[in-house]
Amino acid sequence: MKQSLIIALDFPDLIETKRFLQPFQTEKLAVKIGMELFYQNGPTIISYVKEQGHDIFLDLKLHDIPNTVKMAMRGLAQLEVDMVNVHAAGGHRMMEAALEGLESGTAAGKNRPIAIGVTQLTSTSQEQMNLEQNITGTLEDSVIHYAKLTHDAGLDGVVCSTHEVRRIHEHISDQFMTVTPGIRNAGGPTHDQHRIATPEQARAMGADAIVVGRAITSAKDPLQAYVDMKATWGGIRC
Ligand code: C5P
Repeated sequence: MKQSLIIALDFPDLIETKRFLQPFQTEKLAVKIGMELFYQNGPTIISYVKEQGHDIFLDLKLHDIPNTVKMAMRGLAQLEVDMVNVHAAGGHRMMEAALEGLESGTAAGKNRPIAIGVTQLTSTSQEQMNLEQNITGTLEDSVIHYAKLTHDAGLDGVVCSTHEVRRIHEHISDQFMTVTPGIRNAGGPTHDQHRIATPEQARAMGADAIVVGRAITSAKDPLQAYVDMKATWGGIRC
């Protein structure tokens, strides 16, 4: 999943997903399956996407007591997805339990799914964090704090905005994976995202993977939008 452009399959059902993926049959994609799709279609959608040969980031952002997260992660590892995540706000012990669950659910000879922590959602603004979460200080400091907590618990990386990538790599390590949503083409609509960046900016800031939803899924020609964005992200076209 490192250096991937991950397409967010934010669709309501399998029919819509199949329709979207149809033009991509010759591409090996990295895709993100989130709550919308998984809660409606469960493991069926995972099997379908795996049959198409695509890598899967299962974005369910688990956040519960350690034992519940551990047992849930055990089940998710059995689906043989490539990457999963938890909310870092669930705490050190919860994240350790997530890893234990993943390890126990990974079949012999297979790789444990990459495990990452969500720091602050890219839709969260500084004001919202201060007022609603009652966290003082800057949003960036909160992201760095959660990234350190995630690293200390043994996870492989974090979801963050491109704007925090550099500090995370400086404070933790270059190997600690940064997965960045909130990606838009220059001048494109921002929708509900607050901390956005273009693929070029994400590359320049050192993001390890970018997550792109609507800039591809809502495009008139999603395959072309993907090809263009991937070329830009890969530094082939700027
Ligand atoms: O359409 P857009 O590119 O904004 O989609 C971003 C995707 O990344 C969505 O599926 C959203 O759930 C996800 N995401 C996010 N911010 C995070 C974690 C995940 O936007 N911090």
